[in-house]
Amino acid sequence: MTGAPVLEITNLNVGYGLGEHAVRAVRDVNLTVHRGEVLGLAGESGSGKSTLAYGLTRLLAPPGVITGGTVVYHPADGEPYDVLELDDVGLRKFRWAQTAIVFQGAMNSLNPVHRISAQLTDVLAAHEPTTSAAQRTARAREMLKLVGISSDRMDAYPHQLSGGMRQRVMIGMALILQPQVVIMDEPTTALDVVMQRQILGQLIDLRERLGFSVIFITHDLSLLVEFSDRIAIMYGGRIVEEAPAAVLYQDSLHPYSAGLLGSFPALRGPRRELTGIPGSPPDLRGMPSGCSFHPRCPKAFDPCAANIPVLGNPGGGGRTVACWLHPVLSWGEV
Ligand SMILES: Nc1ncnc2c1ncn2[C@@H]1O[C@H](COP(=O)(O)OP(=O)(O)O)[C@@H](O)[C@H]1O
Ligand SMILES: [Mg+2]
Repeated sequence: MTGAPVLEITNLNVGYGLGEHAVRAVRDVNLTVHRGEVLGLAGESGSGKSTLAYGLTRLLAPPGVITGGTVVYHPADGEPYDVLELDDVGLRKFRWAQTAIVFQGAMNSLNPVHRISAQLTDVLAAHEPTTSAAQRTARAREMLKLVGISSDRMDAYPHQLSGGMRQRVMIGMALILQPQVVIMDEPTTALDVVMQRQILGQLIDLRERLGFSVIFITHDLSLLVEFSDRIAIMYGGRIVEEAPAAVLYQDSLHPYSAGLLGSFPALRGPRRELTGIPGSPPDLRGMPSGCSFHPRCPKAFDPCAANIPVLGNPGGGGRTVACWLHPVLSWGEV
């Protein structure tokens, strides 16, 4: 399932604005993506998921600023480098050919006046100018077929396709340069649940054939439990828990993860009572002291309001949690 690291995010901090009114949207995030794995990133709206994705691909628009950290990318051939240090030329190559991103609402960003085949061949022409027109058309056809669009639809315009088909085209555009990492930021929220499952299932099959890694971002944890290898949970700009998907589903350690899991029906096994999470996500401009989840946490006790828990490894086994209920190796360092 998981190979060597392909992307290593260390102490990443991203804010909006500078100075005392700055909003710290991503705080001290550490996350590693391995070759060939599907890493799910979940959290309520506003927890910083998109900011993390935009930050690590350097696509933040002002007033977004990266205020610290490193994002080390390991190319298939060549030395690892820090994405945060790339110049414009390096960035352009990295963004599409190495790490592609499908944004929230992306299916509406296809160019309405161009046939879908042309939108794919344009990407190839821009990034692989030495290919011939015939080669580009063949690659576009092959890619569209891979994402489930038959050749007789290749010359359609976006408005002639359903939402699900347009989403497939976007995924095809993300994959056509054979990136090693594909980031999907809530790519399917506009689609119905059956369609979401179908597209995701096919993406995972493609991952097995083409060998890329996926960072899949959604507020819908049930999709992640089904489709990802590992899941990281974000709250108030921090990763609060990370574990293999099955482990997180069966035995989450952070009360926030448990709350998210309690917000959708059990996939299998005994029926769970749907509980949800009382209260609302924190305002990033005035974060609660200590663990930012403590005001909403059913299990909060003395240390929670006083100190920020660090992401640590309570029991080994490739999982981490930042919660005072689970004393960690770094307990003494806070
Ligand atoms: N352009 C912006 N300017 C100021 N603050 C922003 C901007 N975009 C996002 N934020 C802040 O960053 C927080 C995280 O946003 P986002 O990364 O979009 O969360 P998510 O993708 O998890 O819903 C938001 O709660 C908001 O306060
Ligand atoms: Mg988002």
